[in-house]
Amino acid sequence: MNTVILDQKPAISHLLTKLRDKNTPAPDFRNTLETLSLLVIGEALEKAPSEKATVETPVGNAEVRRIIENKVVGAPILRAALGMVRPFMKLLPAASISYVGFKRDEKTLEPDYYYDSLPDNLIGKTVFVLDPMLATGGSAVAAAKLIDKRSPDKIVFCAIIAASEGVSRLDEAFPDMPVYIAAIDKHLNENGYIIPGLGDAGDRLFGT
Ligand code: PRP
Ligand code: URA
Repeated sequence: MNTVILDQKPAISHLLTKLRDKNTPAPDFRNTLETLSLLVIGEALEKAPSEKATVETPVGNAEVRRIIENKVVGAPILRAALGMVRPFMKLLPAASISYVGFKRDEKTLEPDYYYDSLPDNLIGKTVFVLDPMLATGGSAVAAAKLIDKRSPDKIVFCAIIAASEGVSRLDEAFPDMPVYIAAIDKHLNENGYIIPGLGDAGDRLFGT
């Protein structure tokens, strides 16, 4: 188990309150998801490759540690993770983004693949898979398998809300994969929604 839960951090629990609230309109939902994602991805970046460097300030030299951005790839799972792309790019503007498209079948709840823009190989890269919702875990596992076939150095998963079922399924499939989540909720309902969760993240993000 390699899961970090972040809801004890005051800014994260504060923002989760707004994100969960059914009365939060789409523009506020979008902004809140972005800020929350910045905080969660920011924590997960402790797993990114980094190096020591020296930078010249206007008044001296500073010994620093920086992330090697061109060794990092963001992999948002369409569609809800589109709300996590801007914060990822704000943190690492020189990293690349490869999209992964899965849509859950409403009856079986299993993910149907429809698109990816992954390169043929990911050797030497650390891939941050982004998805606000980890419900049954089907989409996360399918995305991680697709990425793993391209031989990355490491895969890290970032989510906002998870159900414990999804966390267990991901842990079974990828026991060594670091997972960063703002909150873990009690259970899934019969339609595969996280309870209490926040509803359908893609619909709330895009007002559909
Ligand atoms: C939602 C969500 C995750 C997935 C999680 O996407 O954004 O990708 O469900 O569920 P799982 O853990 O049970 O696989 P959905 O498939 O509804 O597609 P959408 O984002 O395009 O609405
Ligand atoms: N996808 C969502 O957007 N919400 C859930 O609760 C489960 C899957």
